[in-house]
Amino acid sequence: MEEPLRRHADTPTTESGGNGTAPPAPALAFPGATAGDGAGDGLHLLTGNQDISDDEFAKVCALIDQLRTIHFESRRYVERHGLAAAIFLPGSVWAEINDPDHFTNWTYDLVNYVRCASPFTGFDLMMWSRRDVPGQLDAAKVNDFYGRFISGALGYEDVAERLEVEFDLSSHIAKSIPRMTDFYDELVGRIPERYRIIAPPCAGEIGWSHHGRIINPDVILYQRRVNALYAGGALQTVEDAIAAHGSANYLEIGSGHCLFAHALAECFAGKLNVHLIDLPFVMANGVAYLACATGADRIGLVTATTTEAIDRPFVFVPNYLVPHYERHLPAFDLVHNAISFNEMTAAQVAYYYDLVERHMADDGVFHIAGGHKVLDYHVDAVAAAIDRFPNHAVYPDREIAGYLVGERPNTFIRRSLVAA
Ligand SMILES: C[S@@+](CC[C@H](N)C(=O)[O-])C[C@H]1O[C@@H](n2cnc3c(N)ncnc32)[C@H](O)[C@@H]1O
Repeated sequence: MEEPLRRHADTPTTESGGNGTAPPAPALAFPGATAGDGAGDGLHLLTGNQDISDDEFAKVCALIDQLRTIHFESRRYVERHGLAAAIFLPGSVWAEINDPDHFTNWTYDLVNYVRCASPFTGFDLMMWSRRDVPGQLDAAKVNDFYGRFISGALGYEDVAERLEVEFDLSSHIAKSIPRMTDFYDELVGRIPERYRIIAPPCAGEIGWSHHGRIINPDVILYQRRVNALYAGGALQTVEDAIAAHGSANYLEIGSGHCLFAHALAECFAGKLNVHLIDLPFVMANGVAYLACATGADRIGLVTATTTEAIDRPFVFVPNYLVPHYERHLPAFDLVHNAISFNEMTAAQVAYYYDLVERHMADDGVFHIAGGHKVLDYHVDAVAAAIDRFPNHAVYPDREIAGYLVGERPNTFIRRSLVAA
């Protein structure tokens, strides 16, 4: 049975906003459900999904075919080019998740509902809950559902109905209201409208439509990351770069399904040039998501034969091809990593810190959300960052300057500050 890629149990829920050490609050505990309280408010289910076209799907397939080759070639490439396997092959928990001899069969259904197969924050969107919190979900039942969904035994036309029958999905979402909407309103109350992220009604997004925006615990968590970037001054850095150069460069390391990168890019209305580094196996989730959300033509993929800089709004750089492509990387105004560095090895983290040092713009900022040691297999990437970069500011609390933020601590590194 095939399981979706998922992370382990250290992600705070949107409600707890914790630092990953306290058990998350149950995602189903919002009391007082209503049927929606404004124009267009209400459930957003898979029945309302904007499906990807056949033409678009064909373009995604071409990109995913390349990713499949890149994935299967990983070890051979690393050996042939004398790269350090300890840095460029998956490490830590990702060495277990990433099977070098397996690649997901990305069918139309899977691409079209990619968010349903990408629980990177630990929140199972389809079941509106988590498997890693005792008492929330029956893991065997959930795994069986994922298995039928990912293997194709469950056709995408039937997924919405089966979620109601097997997991009572609508009722669970509705029970989240009004607590979830109240929380969201507080979260964005002082955030400028342009920085309130949007999850488009495609790629299998599920949630509650609130004043025209789909919200769910993932979207809320990602908004909290944007709040941190705003409160920490990183979005102003991007604005300044756009004012100076017409556009700004953004790098995300460990980008997962890329909802965050897409949503952030939308905040800057086409003026953010996005580079994404991840494992090729996982990158398929991001390619599928971005194809649904913005179109495959806007995606560029670095391969072993790439010789020129790729000029597309979203450029994917598979992790072991970073050295091959590095000379084409621009100076980044913002580099971001969320809840990923601590799941890598110390050598991988050190490699990425050196990379960021080499490619951060003079006035650029490097933001790390979370990343400290919570679980046994984690490395303390925050301590490593503090050690590596003298010009850092670490915010340990759930608020920065009065703004509610996401994973803790939030670490901001700037080149332009004078070392203490
Ligand atoms: C817990 S997920 C977080 C994803 C995303 N930041 C989010 O919060 O939704 C960790 C991410 O780190 C990526 N990752 C793991 N090892 C990596 C490596 N050596 N280089 C780049 N990315 C890696 C995983 O593939 C995955 O996308």
